[in-house]
Amino acid sequence: MPLSVLSVASEAVPLVKTGGLADVAGALPGALAPHGVVLTTLLPGFPSVMAALPRAKVLHTYEDLLGERARLVAGKLGDHPLIVLDAPTLFTREGSPYADPGGKDWADNWRRFAAFGRAAADLAGGMVKGRKFDLIHAHDWQAAMALAYLRFAPVAGSAPVPSVMTIHNMAFQGYFDAAIFPRLGLPRSAWGIDGVESYGGVGFLKAGLEAASVITTVSPTYAREIREGEFGMGLEGLIRSRGDRVRGIVNGIDTHEWSPASDTHIAQTYTARTLAKKQANKRALEAEFGLEPGDGPLFVVITRLTWQKGMDVLVEVLDHLAGIGGRLALLGSGDQGIVNGLLAGAARHPGRIAVKIGYDEGLSHRMQAGGDAILVPSRFEPCGLTQLYGLAYGCVPVVARTGGLADTVIDANLAAMKVGAATGIQFNGVHYNALCAEIDRAMAIYHQPGAWELLQKNGMKADFSWAASGAAYAALYKELTGKA
Ligand code: ADP
Ligand code: GLC
Repeated sequence: MPLSVLSVASEAVPLVKTGGLADVAGALPGALAPHGVVLTTLLPGFPSVMAALPRAKVLHTYEDLLGERARLVAGKLGDHPLIVLDAPTLFTREGSPYADPGGKDWADNWRRFAAFGRAAADLAGGMVKGRKFDLIHAHDWQAAMALAYLRFAPVAGSAPVPSVMTIHNMAFQGYFDAAIFPRLGLPRSAWGIDGVESYGGVGFLKAGLEAASVITTVSPTYAREIREGEFGMGLEGLIRSRGDRVRGIVNGIDTHEWSPASDTHIAQTYTARTLAKKQANKRALEAEFGLEPGDGPLFVVITRLTWQKGMDVLVEVLDHLAGIGGRLALLGSGDQGIVNGLLAGAARHPGRIAVKIGYDEGLSHRMQAGGDAILVPSRFEPCGLTQLYGLAYGCVPVVARTGGLADTVIDANLAAMKVGAATGIQFNGVHYNALCAEIDRAMAIYHQPGAWELLQKNGMKADFSWAASGAAYAALYKELTGKA
């Protein structure tokens, strides 16, 4: 019998995506399948998800799920089983999954994702005939209440279900006013320091972390970093108290979607052996962004425009980057202040700095294919995927030494260059001087004959597929369920 796991996430490619969580949740079923694990994904019924399920089979109807009518319906995520919580009053809305079209978090997010967690707990507890699960795996705060409901208010008569809670980002905790507690449908015993209470309010992620059999996060370095205040964001004590029940498993990438040898979004496919062909993508990208063509390095940035990603510091270094002959193509969306700073920089340096505000999956591929280097100056980064795509595309990552960036890029220091192991450039401290110095270093290495190509080829040869991490999750599931 295969191991049956319910993976609970608020986004998964190709149905709904705001960031890396979607890439990971979408790839996990395929990563686990070779290990005898059937992963069923549970998603909220956002409009793009419902649109992909025209004739879905109804598994269960709720008359009153935290006050709402809702259904659980079955579908497919690629070749893998999918269940969707269809609750139009909660999820059929304009805007992003979490915020209104103006970018403000929905005021009833607590109810939307508590209902989602309640439904996940019901499923994991065996409420739907013919759907049995050996383990539940919840991702981030939006799914975390599933584990609290399983712990404090499980389906009557159900056996305990082992659980994994994965933190993709400690900065988002789903923290709400204590006044919502009586409306969650939890017993009074759930209110407490080892339950759902967090600094006087209700903490969804916190509740999940307290209840989980094992906590994972998406890189070994971030698993260590969140033990300390700066990265733990108030939950560092809890993390420390869970000891070796906190593990780091680095994300993989979907090598079908992200391979320069077969990418259908790019002008010219290439491999490490035909690297010279990458040049055609650089020319195409310069044209697409209206940059002046040139042989000097073309930096790219593909990101949410936030403080986490160090984008305020990037704004400050634009003049330096352009002044020393660098060029930059940036794609992103987010904070208005950062957007304004970037647009002003582009206006000061036409032909050298070009910015596209928005979200564009195809363009993100063309940028990895056409760029010489991808800049990732994050203040913290649980894993990071864009540097992994950069490695695969010979778009050398220039990254801050933190979290998954520290774990996945080998810095071009003298020793690593000598033994031919380096894949990119790392720097310490996300501030003006450090970032300028690293851009200078990248420019210098770029102009050393053979050095840049070595970085590119090493990165392209490295294995960031899901093979190793899929095996690590499978081993964890087997450890927790006792099933071989
Ligand atoms: P995070 O999840 O913190 O945003 P990751 O690096 O893990 O960071 O994942 C970001 C994902 O979102 C990557 O797949 C990246 O290519 C994609 N992405 C980010 N911003 C954009 C954008 N503006 N357009 C297209 N893709 C984007
Ligand atoms: C989060 C993190 C990012 C990580 C992604 C997928 O959004 O910010 O570092 O790669 O989740 O795990």
